[in-house]
Amino acid sequence: MLTGMPDRPRILLDCDPGHDDAVAIVAAAAFADVVGIVTVAGNVPLDRTTHNALVMRDLIGLRTPVHSGCGRPLVAPPRHAGFIHGESGLDGAQLPDPTTPVDGTDGVEFIIETCRASEGLWLVPTGPLTNIGTAFRLAPDLPTRVAGVSLMGGGSFGNRSAVAEFNIWADPEAAAIVFDAFDPSTPGTSAGPLIMAGLDVTHQFQVTPDRIEMTRALPGRLAAALAGLFDFFTGTYLARHDEGALAGAALHDPLAVLAVTHPHLFESTDRHVVVETSGEHTAGMTVIDERRLLERSEANCRVLTTVDAEAAFALILDAVAEFSV
Ligand code: BDR
Ligand code: CA
Repeated sequence: MLTGMPDRPRILLDCDPGHDDAVAIVAAAAFADVVGIVTVAGNVPLDRTTHNALVMRDLIGLRTPVHSGCGRPLVAPPRHAGFIHGESGLDGAQLPDPTTPVDGTDGVEFIIETCRASEGLWLVPTGPLTNIGTAFRLAPDLPTRVAGVSLMGGGSFGNRSAVAEFNIWADPEAAAIVFDAFDPSTPGTSAGPLIMAGLDVTHQFQVTPDRIEMTRALPGRLAAALAGLFDFFTGTYLARHDEGALAGAALHDPLAVLAVTHPHLFESTDRHVVVETSGEHTAGMTVIDERRLLERSEANCRVLTTVDAEAAFALILDAVAEFSV
């Protein structure tokens, strides 16, 4: 872990690794105290996201419990993203099998107990919100016990539909529970902040060829593994977009971590955001109220709008270097 960091926040990661989730784990381990990792079905099925979280724990020598959570969305059918992350969820690197088993299959209970036992920690979800939404349903006190939620998801445009981003689209009902929990008009709510690292900001943070080479130039097996992962991730992204639309894969998930550990890298605006659960063409959309009308609803969400991508990637390199053995 990087030393000399004042006030390392305590973070509970909820993720579906996934290339960018893997980088989020590395960033969290470097810049925060990771009190646990919970896995959720998302990019790939739950057995695979859990396997990948355990692999990443080994790779960086992180001593934190890994619990698996929900194996399918609350209502929506299970839908994955192998076309982005490969069949394994971490295609592009030869990664050894985990050396240790999962610490529990009770991810939702683990979230509830950990948030109650240790108030003031940050929940950082980087996958579908099934675990967090379920935990909030079972334990409505949680939003007021945590320091906040910093999630990757949503935005003013989509990637799984014209308007829906994958994490929200994969489980809109769970996402709606989470966004509603931070709505000041919800009785009993005095929680926050809810920070949304949506596509507007994560598409500013791309794994460009020079950034891949900077990663590859670092010593150690973590850097080599991540460079291979970046090659694969960028390959699937570029193959799926118009030529010239992107310079590399959008490295979404670590921004939800950096928004907590390095908030000065971001600009944001406070907005009222709701999740569309039932629209024929809009299910999974985060509806961001941009009106300047005085009668608009009070904000429930800090929407990240810009990131200093150079500085953010420099931090990712620092984090990788920290675990280079
Ligand atoms: C999100 O979807 C997943 O494919 C990524 O891991 C990220 O969390 C981006 O839409
Ligand atoms: Ca993810």
